[in-house]
Amino acid sequence: MTRFVVSQSPPLSGRVKISGSKNSVLPIITASLLSEGRSIIEDIPALEDVNVICDVLNNFGVKTQRVNSKLFIDVDDITSYQAPYELVRKMRASFLVLGPLLARLGRVKISLPGGCAIGTRPIDLHLKALRALGADISLGHGYIEATTRGLKGNRIYLDFPSVGATENAIMSAALADGVTVIENAAEEPEIIDLANFINSMGGNVKGAGTDTIKIEGVSRLKGTTHSVIPDRIEAGTFMVATAMNGGDVILENVIIDHLKPVEAKLKEAGVEILEVPCGIRVVSNGRVKAVDIKTLPYPGFPTDMQAPMMALLSVARGTSIVIETIFENRFMHVAELKRMGANIKIEGRSAIIEGRKKLTGTHIQATDLRAGAALILAGLKAQGETVISNAYHIDRGYERIEQKLSALGAVIRREQT
Ligand code: UD1
Repeated sequence: MTRFVVSQSPPLSGRVKISGSKNSVLPIITASLLSEGRSIIEDIPALEDVNVICDVLNNFGVKTQRVNSKLFIDVDDITSYQAPYELVRKMRASFLVLGPLLARLGRVKISLPGGCAIGTRPIDLHLKALRALGADISLGHGYIEATTRGLKGNRIYLDFPSVGATENAIMSAALADGVTVIENAAEEPEIIDLANFINSMGGNVKGAGTDTIKIEGVSRLKGTTHSVIPDRIEAGTFMVATAMNGGDVILENVIIDHLKPVEAKLKEAGVEILEVPCGIRVVSNGRVKAVDIKTLPYPGFPTDMQAPMMALLSVARGTSIVIETIFENRFMHVAELKRMGANIKIEGRSAIIEGRKKLTGTHIQATDLRAGAALILAGLKAQGETVISNAYHIDRGYERIEQKLSALGAVIRREQT
């Protein structure tokens, strides 16, 4: 078992290079199933989730090889249309093979992803989108089987701008016959990255980044080379770490526009944020003002930043209210933060946080990826030592987090127990 041991740390200082985006790279890797030949994906983050999605592709007979931050994907022959439970249960994003495999093979059988710590996470919108394109879908024994005699472009209205459903819809429409229009589509930057990847394979996706995406299906896509966008959630986490602990840190390899929702809230809390030639600079004296937050689809405040932000607000001056509108059970970190002395009350989907002057270190558990990151940030600020178990959650989405933080002066180490 991996755990992180974190001690109260001095103000952070220096530079940190942000890795490629986890939430971009996963759908991009699955989208390579649409193509024939070799794709090279650059700026691949070294994350457990990337290993899992490669295992899923390998299971279909696709060859993947990682060389430093490049991933070579050879899609010559797809030998299986089935994604078994053992693979899908490891990571929900495996469900993103549904659209591409259906489009490419006309048939796919995939285990239902099930719930996860942050909520039930249904898949109705994914299925609605595929049905609109002409998929016959049946469910049984924990599996979904989808078949088609040929997908046909259509109009798809998503009741909610789900990121994953938008991605599955774009990928299946890319090889469908005719034009597909997705309305109320997710507008996240990762959707734009996926569309750019598909277009560079020879596809025709327009409007990504807005709520209406138009896809003109093509008959074939070919392998390409693509660099993944920087991870805005990793960047946001380092911004909050600096805000909370105090310090002066430059984040390199960021797209500043993608950080606007987090930047706006940190500035409101009194943190200085400056654009510099190589990225963004965060300056803080470590004592911030309370701010209210409501998570929303992009360009609103990201739900993935809610937990790190809550760690910050637990030591802010004054009372903050955080409303989580995206996932119904994304306050698992609250119990752990309270064990460190935070004063947080939950009322339905709202958390009321009365800022405390100090937190104290103790043994706590990472309950999911972003919650785990939040606990590291709290540990940097807390008096004494904080031991965070179940650290594998954090490794799913943060590349070498302890090394990146240590390079900024944080006192953190990884231990295997
Ligand atoms: C993606 C991100 C995740 C982020 C989330 C919201 C990846 C790999 N993961 O997850 O980090 O927290 O977006 O920004 O990119 N919903 C339905 N029916 C569906 C699909 C979703 O009701 O068919 C609901 C979900 O239960 C949830 C909301 O829509 O309440 C948002 O989910 P969605 O945008 O689909 O998130 P993911 O794509 O799973």
